[in-house]
Amino acid sequence: MTNKLVIIVGSVREGRSGPVLASWVAEQARAHGGFDVTVVDLAEIDLPLALPDAHPKLAADDYPRPAGMAPLTAAIDGADAFIVVTPEYNHSYPASLKAAIDWHFTQWAAKPVAFVSYGGTAGGRHAALHLENVFIELHAVPIRDGLSFPYYRRTWQDGRPLDPETPQFTKTMLDQLTWWATALRTAREATPYPA
Ligand SMILES: Cc1cc2nc3c(=O)[nH]c(=O)nc-3n(C[C@H](O)[C@H](O)[C@H](O)COP(=O)(O)O)c2cc1C
Repeated sequence: MTNKLVIIVGSVREGRSGPVLASWVAEQARAHGGFDVTVVDLAEIDLPLALPDAHPKLAADDYPRPAGMAPLTAAIDGADAFIVVTPEYNHSYPASLKAAIDWHFTQWAAKPVAFVSYGGTAGGRHAALHLENVFIELHAVPIRDGLSFPYYRRTWQDGRPLDPETPQFTKTMLDQLTWWATALRTAREATPYPA
């Protein structure tokens, strides 16, 4: 069974590192097998901060999103699993990511999410913890294992992590994501999720 994996590049900052990490994670996911991988870069999406006068859960398909958000909405809707690549800003995750999350609701439900975080000393730990909390509200399923990189500029070189153990940790994360993606997809197909 092939699961559709959407990797979200959360940072949109000028001079950001997010695309480098996402590209390496995508390479690992493709090599892992069993995933149809799409990388969605939030810097390429129209993501206004002002939400419409409706709730995306209640409005469902009638929720009025900008045309430039359509690729993101389609990707989230069609996904079986997510990897969110997030930096840490002021002990949390970037506003771009919160906007992308809040413009959607049902599209996230009953799907697993893994986190690849990076930042200063804490390696994006606060960002990942905050995201776990938020995704539970959306009926998504944060998985146990993720990746965390302190000081990106010291721990990565030429687009790859320097720690030789990282590929093994990545495999564990992808194994867990596969398990949950398959289990939840089978369950969603058998019975609509009661969100
Ligand atoms: C506005 C801002 C706030 C930051 N706050 C934190 C922080 O609270 N904790 C941390 O570990 N790193 C923090 N950092 C460091 C970033 O997480 C780090 O530079 C990361 O590589 C930035 O990712 P990006 O290049 O993809 O934007 C901050 C960086 C910026 C620009």
